[in-house]
Amino acid sequence: MTAELRDELDRIAAQAPARIDACASPEEVEALRVEYVGTKGSITRINKLLREVPADQRPGLGKRVGEVRSLVLQKLQEAGQKFQVEDGAGRQRIDITLPGRTFLLGRRHPLTIALDRITSIFSDMGFTVADGPEIESEYYNFEALNMPPDHPARDMTDTYYVAPQWPLRSQTSPVQVREMEKRRPPVRIIVPGKVYRNEDVSARAMNQFFQVEGLYVDRNVTFADLKGTLETFCRRFFPPKTRVRFRPSYFPFTEPSTEVDVSCILCNGSGCRVCKYAGWLEILGAGMVDPNVFGFVDYDPEEYNGFAFGMGIDRTTMMRYGVDDIRHFWENDMRFLSQFE
Ligand code: PHE
Repeated sequence: MTAELRDELDRIAAQAPARIDACASPEEVEALRVEYVGTKGSITRINKLLREVPADQRPGLGKRVGEVRSLVLQKLQEAGQKFQVEDGAGRQRIDITLPGRTFLLGRRHPLTIALDRITSIFSDMGFTVADGPEIESEYYNFEALNMPPDHPARDMTDTYYVAPQWPLRSQTSPVQVREMEKRRPPVRIIVPGKVYRNEDVSARAMNQFFQVEGLYVDRNVTFADLKGTLETFCRRFFPPKTRVRFRPSYFPFTEPSTEVDVSCILCNGSGCRVCKYAGWLEILGAGMVDPNVFGFVDYDPEEYNGFAFGMGIDRTTMMRYGVDDIRHFWENDMRFLSQFE
């Protein structure tokens, strides 16, 4: 038995170097590695058989197994290196036969794309961008918007509080007040920003979302200005076939007030899950600034008037791109996000 194993080892030692040298690809080198030193390889098998060899012959044969194994491993390593290229420093080696690495490029989020587009349309009409804090005081979120502490309209939104009297803003409207405190008319601003409401999450509602507030205050601003501005926006932002309608509504800080709906582009107005089978989707609230609000910022309501609007961006973006579930915007799934340019 010892002699046979010794012969086999000699045969391997005689043939392996030439066979390994003759390899023309990394795959062939790998096949020989498996054949000789893999878990079922010939050298591995001989090594296991050592147990059955008479004890006095075991050390000598064991040594020979070790020699042949080292020889084969040495040749395999050299052969492997043949298919690799040294880098400039001569240390790391690169397998130039591997395909190149692809890099995942970042992209703008669809909501960011929509916000930029909205900003650009309104800036064409003379609006500039303002912003304000997300943790807001009750004074700005409610009171200065004509909602005193016991006003039922405070319940129009289910507001989160971070501390007593400190809500997460439930709307971007408080920035209207902050801006009017800072300057005199004419004021023509939009306010893109995040707002928070304790809503049940569904295909069309999230508990955090983006709004764009708009405010225009000057002498002789009319409801026709409001209508013209918002119609122009809708015409430029939505696909051409989209229909737009104004409905009477109520907000404590505007009078008269309106809500604007667009025909659902997902179902083309025939009714689906997103538009709650109404065929229309509300995208914004608006109205003529209530004179009481001017009282809080010391504007003379006899001299100035204006309009304001607040638009939900997530829903507006759904309509623009035909996205059927608002939650996609918040899940950070690259398969979804990489579709938007
Ligand atoms: N802030 C209102 C909302 O979030 C929208 C609005 C803004 C309405 C400005 C009128 C004027 O529902």
